[in-house]
Amino acid sequence: MSQSRLASCIPLPIDNKLLISVVEKAKDWALMHGVGMRDKKHFSKDSIQIAPFVLLPSPFPRTEFTKAIELQPVLNELMHKVAHNDEFLEKTLQNALQVDDFTAKLYDVWLKVREEGITQPISLGMLRSDIMLESRCPHTESQCAKHTPYCSWKQVEINSIASGFGHLGPVSREIQSYVMRQLGHGELIKNMPENRALSGLCSGIIEAYDLFAVPSAVVIFVVEEVSYNICDQRFHEFEISEKRPDIMIYRKTLGEIYEETELNDKKQLILDGQPVAVVYYRSGYEPDQYPSTKEWDARLRVERSSAIKCPSIHYQLAGTKKVQQALAAPGVLETFMSEGAVTSRVRDIFTGLYSLDFDEGGERAVEMALADAEKFVLKPQREGGGNNLYGADVREALLRMRHSRERAAYILMERILPPLVSGYVVRPGAAVPPPLSDLVSELGIFGVIIGNKDKIYCNRQVGHMLRTKLADANEGGVAAGLGALDSPYLLDL
Ligand SMILES: Nc1ncnc2c1ncn2[C@@H]1O[C@H](COP(=O)(O)OP(=O)(O)O)[C@@H](O)[C@H]1O
Ligand SMILES: [Mg+2]
Repeated sequence: MSQSRLASCIPLPIDNKLLISVVEKAKDWALMHGVGMRDKKHFSKDSIQIAPFVLLPSPFPRTEFTKAIELQPVLNELMHKVAHNDEFLEKTLQNALQVDDFTAKLYDVWLKVREEGITQPISLGMLRSDIMLESRCPHTESQCAKHTPYCSWKQVEINSIASGFGHLGPVSREIQSYVMRQLGHGELIKNMPENRALSGLCSGIIEAYDLFAVPSAVVIFVVEEVSYNICDQRFHEFEISEKRPDIMIYRKTLGEIYEETELNDKKQLILDGQPVAVVYYRSGYEPDQYPSTKEWDARLRVERSSAIKCPSIHYQLAGTKKVQQALAAPGVLETFMSEGAVTSRVRDIFTGLYSLDFDEGGERAVEMALADAEKFVLKPQREGGGNNLYGADVREALLRMRHSRERAAYILMERILPPLVSGYVVRPGAAVPPPLSDLVSELGIFGVIIGNKDKIYCNRQVGHMLRTKLADANEGGVAAGLGALDSPYLLDL
C-alpha cells in the first residue's frame, strides 16, 4: 500500500502574494512571542532567531488524538511501575550494559544509590510519549472497516528525561491560530485542540516542590553549557515565577553542580546555603553532557540527595529504548498491568520491536533486517536525536556487528510510515515564500506523574506537541534543524 495523504485544513496552495505577506507577519509574531531558538552559527545571548515552524496546523484524525490523550495516564503509570521494578530493569538492561558504556555508567549510579539506601523515594516524571500515524493497514480490505488514510498510531518512543516543547508546543497553536485568522479562517480554530502543556508541566514541578515541604528551598534546572533551545526552558521559569513567586530557580550545568553544591548531614543538596527541593534535568541524557568524572560525581550527588529528581536515575533507565523493546515482547506487559482492555490498548501501540541480543531471537531479528533493511530502524541506547540508523545503514551496521556483542546495545524497530500532509515550512534564513512540501508529523503527549514505589500522588495527561518534517527526512529534531514546530488540526474522518 502506498503512502496515503490527509486533507489539509484549508485549500492549498495559497496565492503567492498573500503567502509572502502572511509569512512575514508570522515570522514577526514568532520573534515577539518566543517561537525561537538561539542561532548555532552566530551564537549570541542577546538575540534569538525564529524556530522553524509549519505555517498552518497539520491534519490529525480526532479519534486517534483523543485515544492518545486518554491513554497517557496509563502509560505514565506503566513507566512508574517499570522504574520501580529493580529486577526487570536489571534483566532487561544486562546485555546492553556489557557493551554500552553510557548506560552502564547510569546503571552504576543507580546501583550505588540503592546500596546506600534511597534518601528520596518520591520521583517526578515529566514524560512525553511520541507517536506517529501508521498509513499501512495490516488488515485486508474486508477486515478493515475504516477505509481511512491511516490505520492506527504507533509509539515511536517514550521520553523520561528532558522532554521538551512544553512551551513550543502550545505556542505553535497560537502562531498558527494567528495565521488562520490572517487568512480569513478564524472559524476553523475550534478544530485546534487547546494545549496547556507549559502550565501542566510546571504544575508538576510546583507539586513536587510542595511535597518536599521545606521553606526557602530552591529548584535547579540542569542545563547544557550552551542552551540553544532557550525559549523552551526559560518559559518554564517564567511560568513558575508567575504562579509561585516564592520559588527560586537556578540554572546550573552538571559541572557547576559539582563545584557549587554539597550534601549536608540530612542528605539535603545545598546550593548557596539553601536546600534544593527539585532538580529538573534538561541535560544529562547523552554522553557528551558528561565530559569528565566531575559531571558523573555531580549526578551521583544529586541522586544521593533528598531532592526530588525529574527524572530519578531509575526513571531515566526506564526510558531507554531497550526497556521499550522489552515491554513489547509477548507476555511482558501483563507483569505490570492486569490483563484486559486497557492492556490490549497499550499492546496495540507497539510496532514490531526486536532485541538484538546474542541469542536465537536476536539472530532471527538480524536475518529479518538484512532481508529487508528499508523496513526497519536500528536504535542505540541514546536520546536527543540523530543517533538512529535507517535503510542501507541498517544493513551495513548489522553486517559489521553480526558476530559481535556490540549489537546488544541496539534494538531493531519496524519503520512507521505516516500519511503525508501538505504544508509550508518557514525556516530562519530561507527564501520567502517557502515551497509547498510533502510532510509527515509526530505527535508527543505529555504526562506528569509523582509518586513513590507504593503511592502515586498525581498522574495526569497535561498537553501535547506536534513536530513535522519533510516526508523524505529520517529524523525530525527541531533543535537539530530538521523538523518544524506544528500543532494538530483535528479531522473528523
Ligand atoms: N520506528 C520508526 N519509524 C519511523 N520513524 C522513526 C521510528 N523511530 C524513530 N523514528 C524517527 O527518528 C526520530 C528519533 O527517534 P527516537 O526513537 O525518538 O530517538 P531519540 O531518543 O533520539 O529522539 C523520531 O523522532 C522519528 O522522526
Ligand atoms: Mg525522540
